[in-house]
Amino acid sequence: MNIPFSKVSITGNESKYIDEVLKSGWLTTASKALKFEQLFAQYVGAKYACAVNSCTAALHLAVEAIGIGPGDKVLVPTLTFTASAEVVRYMGADPIFIDVEYGTGLVSPSILKKALREHPDVKAIILVHYAGQAAEMKVTGGEGIIDLCRKHNVKIIEDAAHAFPTKFGDQFIGSFGDITCFSFYANKTITTGEGGMLVTNDEAFYKRAKTMRLHGINRDIWDRFTSVKSSWEYDVVEPGFKYNMPDLNAAIGLAQLEQAEYLRAGRQRCAEYYFRELSDLIAVDLPICYGPYENHSWHIFPLVICPEASVSRNEFIERMSNEGVGVSVHYKPIHRMTYYKQAYKLDPINYPNAEKIWKGTVSLPIYSDLKEEGLRYVCQTVKLLLDKRLNYFFFPKEASRVQLSTK
Ligand SMILES: Cc1ncc(COP(=O)(O)O)c(C=O)c1O
Repeated sequence: MNIPFSKVSITGNESKYIDEVLKSGWLTTASKALKFEQLFAQYVGAKYACAVNSCTAALHLAVEAIGIGPGDKVLVPTLTFTASAEVVRYMGADPIFIDVEYGTGLVSPSILKKALREHPDVKAIILVHYAGQAAEMKVTGGEGIIDLCRKHNVKIIEDAAHAFPTKFGDQFIGSFGDITCFSFYANKTITTGEGGMLVTNDEAFYKRAKTMRLHGINRDIWDRFTSVKSSWEYDVVEPGFKYNMPDLNAAIGLAQLEQAEYLRAGRQRCAEYYFRELSDLIAVDLPICYGPYENHSWHIFPLVICPEASVSRNEFIERMSNEGVGVSVHYKPIHRMTYYKQAYKLDPINYPNAEKIWKGTVSLPIYSDLKEEGLRYVCQTVKLLLDKRLNYFFFPKEASRVQLSTK
């Protein structure tokens, strides 16, 4: 069998909408992008959406819009993709890397509280909804992430690259923080090939992001060429960027948006299969899902292979690959990346949970096209490599073992 790590699902109106764009005679940003923005904002319950050509672009526009500048400090979890941190450097500001919770890979309110105590002068946080599960935005009778940030006057930029569609309580991610950024990269929960979306409820942030998305020009290019009352004249009010989403990509996005819940439910089916089949493996910690499964986008299903297992993480990956199963790692933490390690003199000792995750983490295939036969093969292969293959000195570590997923 050959089970790829990820596979895009094209089951809806993608070809039809692309065809409409091709026949329209206008391939870059126009009515499809506009419609995608409107429907996406509506889906997540935000006032404004700005379609861009990557989540990295959205994050860049977000830090720019909230006014991050040279010397400012921004909290960033160390367990993330490099884009979450690099946009802070684009502005000449400094990321302050923080640890995450073992089991969820998320920044918890208590981790944030400690970071705010140690760095009272931070301007913002880039909060990653790791794997597609929402961080604890609100706590009944206590302080959730939103409360803590408001209390300390810290702006919240949510990196929701993994988190569409994701809910916290009965609200979608995209309706909480100051600005939320989504990714539609090829392997994401919905895709446009390359693409991203910035959403916000703040009109000033939206207007700023919209202007900076297109060279700092004060009107949309497509309006310049297509409006009946069109005029040749435009003004440049800032040295902006070239981050707009072409209609060809937006056409795919519109079709994928229609399928978003169907695709999410397909990934949930995979996660439930893994929980059912793998929860008895004592050499493996499964991810913790603290909320209803329906609230999780299930973008990534990360296991942690415990140090007591008889195969190392790297050996496991190699052997899975030899058996035809593609797996991946999310992530080598940023504090281990040469640039950040050297520039900020980072010491792994300050990130014990991310270290524990990093040393054993492996992500299994999870996508709606992965059916029972494939899931069975993945689980059989995992069990073959990890079941009853513990080191002889291993004894059950129930006390230190993370809780298994609770619905
Ligand atoms: C957590 C996180 N943030 C940001 C990004 C960047 O997304 P994009 O490739 O759309 O720029 C990714 C991409 O994998 C990601 O995983």
